[in-house]
Amino acid sequence: MSDPDIRKGLAGVVVDTTAISKVNPDTNSLLYRGYPVQELAATQPFEAVAYLLWNGELPTADQLAALRATERQHRALAANVKTAIDLVPLDAHPMDEIRTAASLLGASDATGSGSVLDASGTPEQNLERSIRLFAALPAIVAYGQRRRRGEDIVAPRDDLDYSANFLWMTFGTEPDPVVVDAFNRSMILYAEHSFNASTFTARVITSTLSDLYSAVVGAIGALKGPLHGGANEAVLHIFDEIGEAANVNAWLDTALAEKRKIMGFGHRVYKHGDSRVPTMKAALDSLVEHYDRPEVLALYTRLSDEFVARKGIYPNLDYPSGPAYNLIGFDTLTFTPLFVASRVTGWTAHIMEQAASNALIRPLSAYDGVPERHIAV
Ligand code: CMC
Repeated sequence: MSDPDIRKGLAGVVVDTTAISKVNPDTNSLLYRGYPVQELAATQPFEAVAYLLWNGELPTADQLAALRATERQHRALAANVKTAIDLVPLDAHPMDEIRTAASLLGASDATGSGSVLDASGTPEQNLERSIRLFAALPAIVAYGQRRRRGEDIVAPRDDLDYSANFLWMTFGTEPDPVVVDAFNRSMILYAEHSFNASTFTARVITSTLSDLYSAVVGAIGALKGPLHGGANEAVLHIFDEIGEAANVNAWLDTALAEKRKIMGFGHRVYKHGDSRVPTMKAALDSLVEHYDRPEVLALYTRLSDEFVARKGIYPNLDYPSGPAYNLIGFDTLTFTPLFVASRVTGWTAHIMEQAASNALIRPLSAYDGVPERHIAV
């Protein structure tokens, strides 16, 4: 091969088509199945957006009720999954816990593994598997946080919808509607973002005709990294380091002199600002008011104003969601698992899309190692 056109990190490479979401960095917009994500976050429960991503249309009232009924059936933490989580060392990262739990869910699903020749599943089986994962992940995330705090498991409540029940299982108290609304918005904003690293990982695994659970487990591994989903957790570490708004300038002087990456800023696709940030920032504002924590907003605003002024690099979704999750009461280690609980909807929609018109994903590489040589005999 002579002079191949290598795009490191596949930057700028269009790999395939998708009908699930459209990111337009020029107009700073993100559409899920044609709907602006801001409109969905302002008007829909997360369950309806999950339905939209999987099926292409928002649900009717009956369809939403049916999805909610199925979701409730799969909410409780299965005994074998709880046992597996309990085997994960308490000082392991919760993403390792979630990855293990998701893998066990697959192994325990009678339709989910078995012969490698039929593991990829029918479209109906894959939709069922998607709903099962979507429904089961909140209890896994919630139990993870509780066991790290030495607290007992909290059983799900059938009278609460997805977001309120998620908060109930995590904190064991009836959540305030302001908090439920902010959390619901965050779930919708994190749900889908075209061919990001974890979604692409899921599509690569699906392209070998492997099963949906294996693709999700691989995606969880890709999401764990701080250049992707791990950034929301990293934002809180930065906030903790800085302490208060008055320290921002001095902290930034040092961080930039050390050429540190400032987590929660920058994006591979959006170069003029992340389309999801204003909606999540509004949710953060409502939480700051609800919990009466103006100093959080002061630090948030000072750091983003100063960093944008100095570097022209804008906040991404992880920047407002990190402090929002912190205000709600989630441990910093739980932030990326929350991203999993949301993005599993987008991943599974992409897995089904990939399976429906599959081509094995197998790119080429240009060899730059030692020239051919031989064993001396
Ligand atoms: N802090 C400091 N400098 C930055 C940052 C940042 N957050 N982001 C980009 N830059 C600089 C980078 O150092 C480079 O400078 P130079 O050209 O002088 O070497 C230039 O901007 C281009 O950066 P890049 O990393 O080559 O660009 P990319 O498109 O590969 O990076 C990114 C995108 C998200 C990996 C990067 O912006 C980053 O590392 N951000 C921090 C981590 C983060 O917040 N990730 C969450 C991404 S959004 C949610 C998600 O998808 O999971």
